[in-house]
Amino acid sequence: MSVVKTTGFGIIGCGIIAEVHAKGILETDEARLIGVYDSIQTKAVDFAKKYQVISFSSLEEMLHNDEIDVICICTPSGIHPEQTVQVAKAKKHILVEKPMAIKMDDYSRMVEACEENNVLISTVFPRRMSPQAQFARKIIQEGKLGRLSLCSGYVKIYRDQHYYDSAGWRGTWEMDGGGAMMNQGIHTVDMLQWLVGPVASLYGKAKAVLRDIEVEDTVISLLEFKNGAMGVLEITTTAFEGKGQVLSIHGEKGTLVIQEDTITVLEVEGEKIEIPSFEPFKVIPDGHRIQIKDMALAVQEQRSPIVPGTEGKHSLEIILGTYESSTTGKEVSFLHDLKSKAQIL
Ligand SMILES: NC(=O)c1ccc[n+]([C@@H]2O[C@H](COP(=O)([O-])OP(=O)(O)OC[C@H]3O[C@@H](n4cnc5c(N)ncnc54)[C@H](O)[C@@H]3O)[C@@H](O)[C@H]2O)c1
Repeated sequence: MSVVKTTGFGIIGCGIIAEVHAKGILETDEARLIGVYDSIQTKAVDFAKKYQVISFSSLEEMLHNDEIDVICICTPSGIHPEQTVQVAKAKKHILVEKPMAIKMDDYSRMVEACEENNVLISTVFPRRMSPQAQFARKIIQEGKLGRLSLCSGYVKIYRDQHYYDSAGWRGTWEMDGGGAMMNQGIHTVDMLQWLVGPVASLYGKAKAVLRDIEVEDTVISLLEFKNGAMGVLEITTTAFEGKGQVLSIHGEKGTLVIQEDTITVLEVEGEKIEIPSFEPFKVIPDGHRIQIKDMALAVQEQRSPIVPGTEGKHSLEIILGTYESSTTGKEVSFLHDLKSKAQIL
C-alpha cells in the first residue's frame, strides 16, 4: 500500500478566508494542517480548537515549527508584504491571498525575498482554476475568435455599509489598498488579462459614489491591450441585487461570454464548437482546494506552483494604474514595462 506524502501547512490570520484554506487543507490527502496564528489570540485558539491543530502564540513560534513547509497568508491585504518577507526568511513556502500586495514596490520586495531565500510563492486566483475558464483560454489562445477587438469585464455586486464597517481594515487605503477594484474586482481584472493578454495603456476613473469609505465603491477603466484590442472594466460594489461578474470577449471570427464561471456564449464563424459538460465547480472552495493541492505537490516535486507569485503583478498594475489615472486625469501606459515582459514570453 502506498503512503501519500504530506506537506505541512500553517495559516496566518484566522478570519473568513482562512476557513476555506483550513477546509481545503483537511480535504487534501497531500496536505496536513499543523497550526494557526492570529494577532487576536482568542481567534487563533478557537480556530485551532475547531480544526484540532496547534494555536501558536506568535508568528515567530509558528515559523520555528519544523513540520510546517507552507504558510497560507490570510491576513488583511496591507500586511501581506511584511509577513511574506518574514516567512520567506524563515525558509517556508508561501500561499498568499489576493491581492498579493497593494503597492508595486511591495510586490517586488516579496518576489525578491522568495527568490533570495529559495522558497516558492503562489498567489490565490481561484477563478483561473475553473475548467470552463481553462477551456475558454484554450479557445482564445488557439485563435478561434480571430483578432480580438473588444474585451471587457463587468463586476456588479453589492456590499452594504455594514460590510465595510465589519472589520477595521476594509475600505481603507492603508490595509485594503483600494475598494471595489482592489478587493472584489481583482478576480475579473486578473481573468481578463489572463484570457486576452497584457494591457498596454488605460484611462481610469474611481470614486466612492454611495458608501462612506476612503476608497472607491465604483470604478471604470478604459483599456487598450497590447494586441490592439480595446475594452472596459466596470466594477462596483453598489449594484443592488447585483448580477455578478461577466467577461465578454469579441474577435473578428467569434464571441465568447463567461457569466460568473459559466461559458454562456461561444459563437465561432463557420464552426460549431461544443462546450464540454464540465463537473460542477464552485470558485470558493473548489478553486482554493486545487491551489492548495498544487502547492503541496509543488513543494514535494520542487517545481513552480500553478499560479506563481509573479502572476500577481499583472492585475496589480492595472488596478494601481487605474487609480493613478483617476487621480492625475492622464493615460497610464505600461508599454515600457511590457517590452521586458514580451522578452520573457
Ligand atoms: N481569494 C479569495 O477569493 C478571497 C476571498 C476573501 C478574502 N480574500 C483575501 O484574504 C485576506 C483576508 O480576508 P478576510 O476576509 O479573511 O479578512 P478577515 O478580516 O475576516 O480576517 C483577517 C484575519 O487576520 C487577522 N490579523 C490581522 N492582522 C494580523 C497580523 N498582523 N497577524 C496575524 N493575524 C492578523 C485578523 O485578526 C483576522 O482574524 C484579504 O487579503 C482578502 O483580500 C481572498
